[in-house]
Formats: sequence, structure tokens, C-alpha cells
Amino acid sequence: MDARRDMLAGRVAVVTGSSRGLGFAMARVLGRHGASVVLASRSDADVAAAVERLRTEGIEASGRRCDMAELADVEALREEALAHGTLDIWVNNAGASGVYGPTASTPVEDFARVVRTNILGTFHGSRVALPVFLGQGHGDLVNVYGQGDQGPVALQNAYASSKRWVRQFTETLRAETKNSGVRVHGMNPGLVITDMLGQRHVTGGVRAAPRRAAGRRRPVGSDPGSRRTTPAAPRHLRCRRVPRPHQGDPGGTGHTQPADRTPPPPQPNAHERHRP
Ligand SMILES: NC(=O)c1ccc[n+]([C@@H]2O[C@H](COP(=O)([O-])OP(=O)(O)OC[C@H]3O[C@@H](n4cnc5c(N)ncnc54)[C@H](OP(=O)(O)O)[C@@H]3O)[C@@H](O)[C@H]2O)c1
Repeated sequence: MDARRDMLAGRVAVVTGSSRGLGFAMARVLGRHGASVVLASRSDADVAAAVERLRTEGIEASGRRCDMAELADVEALREEALAHGTLDIWVNNAGASGVYGPTASTPVEDFARVVRTNILGTFHGSRVALPVFLGQGHGDLVNVYGQGDQGPVALQNAYASSKRWVRQFTETLRAETKNSGVRVHGMNPGLVITDMLGQRHVTGGVRAAPRRAAGRRRPVGSDPGSRRTTPAAPRHLRCRRVPRPHQGDPGGTGHTQPADRTPPPPQPNAHERHRP
């Protein structure tokens, strides 16, 4: 085992929302550095497949189904981790995107879905991990920010405001745990092509961005009042970081620029430009 691989040997790390996308990538990196990783999402089958994939790479992995909006699920996830003997790292990564559109026409259930995953889920994860960390005098809690964490984003109020909340919540936790030995981190990965980007919906009354601004994105689907703006990303692109032409990341870490660069939202009142 090399030094890099050894760095997290003996540690147990939980990554929520890790059946795909960024969560899976983070679990893999933690595992490659020697941690025993515990994966989770709302799909038993997807978790099992992700665990199997990591095991074939020689990573010690386990997992379970967990809806972050359900406290009992999140407590069970913590127990799954503790069954490995310890809990050292907890990453609140699970996230849901909202619809593009004016808040005034945002479906209530869509707003609630974002709040339940991004806000309640981050609270639940922190609420179950921190008592363990504080009790043992160490542990790393990581919360994942996103677009809107530093200010308003028109037409993405649910998602953007939830990420603003995650930032403030995280900074508050950091203040509360000062000098406890527990480290609380917040990070914004920047724009990464994952399923999340392929699952955006536009509410009725909102029109798509001109082709020039939207790049190669094309709307698919045609349910009235809600339409998909992009097809699901192909599998091989499901976690690809998008380079930033004017803001370099010389270290290639993905963490040098805090603001993410989600493509510009659709402009209001241009249905007629929204072509398949
Ligand atoms: N992609 C980007 O450009 C970008 C930029 C900035 C920040 N982020 C943030 O990074 C995080 C991961 O995003 P991603 O792009 O990797 O998304 P993704 O590909 O859609 O993956 C989301 C993961 O979370 C799980 N999940 C969703 N809701 C859940 C819930 N209620 N409980 C448990 N698991 C849940 C999903 O599995 P199930 O649906 O099967 O549960 C999946 O494993 C999110 O917090 C997102 O806001 C992403």
C-alpha cells in the first residue's frame, strides 16, 4: 500500500447521495486513500451496484438505502458506519435540483422536494454525525454547496436559496464546534456534468435561453407546464468537471474557485424559441 493509499487507512467515511455523480466520485477518492466507505441513496439497487463497482476496484465499501429526508433512515446509516468500528468522515452530498422558473409559479411539491433533500437532509446528516464526532473529539463533516450559496439566482430560487442556507448552516456549525476537535467544511464543486444537470425542468410561463447562450442543450419531453431542458447525460459524462476558461485551476483540484458555473437559466417569455 502506498502513502497516498494509506492516508485514510482505518477511517470510516459516509457519503450521502453516492450511488452516482459527485457522491460516487467522492466515495471513490476516499476509498482510494484507504477509507472504508459507506454509500447511500434512495435506491437499494443503485447503492448495491455502486458498492460492487468500488469493491471491484479494491475499495472497502458497503452501503444502504437512505432517504435523507427521513431521520430514521439517516440514523440507520450512521449505525451502518459505526458497525465498522468508527465514524470519521461524513459528507452531506445528497442534493436535488429545482425547476427553472419564477417562484410565483413554482410547484409547491417541487419546492418541498428540494427543501426536504437539501435542507432537511443536510440537517439530518449533521444531526446524527456531530454527536459521534463531538463525543470522540474528532471527525470531519463536509457539506456541499451549490449555485446560489453566495447570493440570489433568479428563476432558481428553491435550489439557490437552499444552497445559501447550507452555507450559513455550515458556517454556524463551524462556529459552534470551534475548539472541539471537530472540523466542519463546506465546498462548492463548481459545474460538473452529472445526472442532476440532465434533470432540470422548466415551469410553465418560462422560456428557454437562446441557442447561443444554451450551447448544445436541447429540450426534450413535452408535458404541459413542465419540460425537460436537457436529455440525461450519457453515462460516460455523468461526472465530468467543466473547465473554466477564464478562471484557472492550476492544481486541478476543483476547489480553487468557489462559485459554480451552472449554465445561464432560461430567459422569461420566449416559448417560441424552445425547439426540440
Ligand atoms: N453537478 C453540479 O454541477 C453541481 C454543482 C454544484 C453543487 N452540486 C451539488 O453536488 C451534490 C451532488 O450533485 P450531483 O450533480 O452529483 O447530483 P446527481 O448526479 O443527481 O446525484 C445525486 C445523488 O443524490 C441522491 N439523492 C437525491 N435525493 C436524495 C435523498 N432525498 N436522499 C438520499 N439520496 C438522495 C441520488 O440518488 P437517488 O435519487 O437514487 O436517491 C444520487 O445518488 C448536490 O448536493 C448538488 O447540489 C452539484
